[in-house]
Amino acid sequence: MKDDAPRSLLLVRTGATGVLSMAVCQAGLAAGTFFGGVDLLRWHGLFGLVTMGVTIVTAILAGLYVRDGGPRWVLWFSLVVVAWATVQVTLGRLEIAAPHAFSGTLFAMLATAFTSWVFRHRHDRVAGSAAAGRADTP
Ligand code: HEM
Repeated sequence: MKDDAPRSLLLVRTGATGVLSMAVCQAGLAAGTFFGGVDLLRWHGLFGLVTMGVTIVTAILAGLYVRDGGPRWVLWFSLVVVAWATVQVTLGRLEIAAPHAFSGTLFAMLATAFTSWVFRHRHDRVAGSAAAGRADTP
């Protein structure tokens, strides 16, 4: 099937890839703290805020895509990613380490699923077509 994707969907895909990259980067920085030396936890904290920022930008792009006729699940999914990142940063700042580490792994899985879904999703420009509006069609 031809992917007649509007620019906003391409931007959502870029944003989702950015969130996933940041999640993997965060896991690497967290692992790096076990070896001491450079203060990687400080960078992990800073990059955590950047990660949250990227999730927010991606949700805004998802909103633009929905305005361009994309299905609503893209926006809802991106908002769940924003909420998860917010909880993740909060747990980190409060030094609730074990739940934070577990939730960080789940966050990376969520980011993987989101990225996969927005790349698999094929935009259908034909108004009223079954594929365009179905919330269960990635
Ligand atoms: C597998 C993934 C992750 C692991 C294993 C992990 C691990 C940790 C650990 C051990 C701490 C220190 C907690 C303490 O001081 O008691 C921490 C802090 C923190 N983490 Fe993570 N983290 C992960 C992912 C993330 C992600 C995805 C984000 C952001 C979305 C994030 C944001 C933060 C923040 C903001 C802090 C506080 C840093 C500070 O106060 O300086 N982490 N993390």
